Amino acid sequence: MRFSVISLFPGQIDAFLKESIIGRAREKRIIDIDFYDIRDYSGNPYGKVDDTLYGGGTGMLIQCEPVYRCYEDVCSSGKPYVIYVSPKGKVLDQKKVRELAGKDHIAILCGHYEGIDSRVTDEIVDEEISIGDYVLTGGEIAAVTIIDSVSRMIEGVLPNEDAYTNESHMNGTLEASQYTKPRIWHDREVPEVLLNGNQAQIDDYNRTMSLVETMDKRPDMFDKLALTEEDWQKVLARKRQN
Ligand SMILES: C[S@@+](CC[C@H](N)C(=O)[O-])C[C@H]1O[C@@H](n2cnc3c(N)ncnc32)[C@H](O)[C@@H]1O
Repeated sequence: MRFSVISLFPGQIDAFLKESIIGRAREKRIIDIDFYDIRDYSGNPYGKVDDTLYGGGTGMLIQCEPVYRCYEDVCSSGKPYVIYVSPKGKVLDQKKVRELAGKDHIAILCGHYEGIDSRVTDEIVDEEISIGDYVLTGGEIAAVTIIDSVSRMIEGVLPNEDAYTNESHMNGTLEASQYTKPRIWHDREVPEVLLNGNQAQIDDYNRTMSLVETMDKRPDMFDKLALTEEDWQKVLARKRQN
């Protein structure tokens, strides 16, 4: 899978995605990330790519032409699916992450300052995505968020599919609490069932605790679940124990 990032500060994104799991996936060429600096397409001796707003208002806006020239360069090896990261977009969720993981080539356009002249985004963007209802200074953190979350869905990036299939948000629930050694820490014991080696019991326990976790921490998600009578009984029994 290939990501092309169009940004005024591509170094920020590269630095973040150089290490750990995504860094190794890049080394193995499971994912490729190439970077395009909008300033390289400025056509101005000083590398200027922004200007003041028509109609007044503070701040500077990135101009159409450098972004468009950069986009044309990205397209020279085929047209990618183009995402503009923006606070006006639909908020990213795991369903969208999974959908994006099915694409071969995604270009992510990052704004900065006041954003980008709407005429060029209207012309080249397939989808506008936000990472939450707040405003960042630039799209670089949003690009990192998309690349990281989508990459871990690509075969070979994580050790195996089990590493993410039971994770939070994969099936509308949150993951059950997890524990590692030591068995007792600050008088807090790991639940006995996780130590008994009976995988069917462990799976059943984890499923119930995942529902309890969702009920406690994300009632909005819990309300959307279609629980069986048996699920309800197990959840309520656990709640009575806690
Ligand atoms: C300061 S913001 C511009 C905000 C814009 N003037 C507005 O009010 O909608 C600069 C850039 O940061 C990025 N950005 C800011 N908040 C974001 C968010 N919540 N999700 C994704 N990108 C965001 C976008 O690329 C945006 O063009």
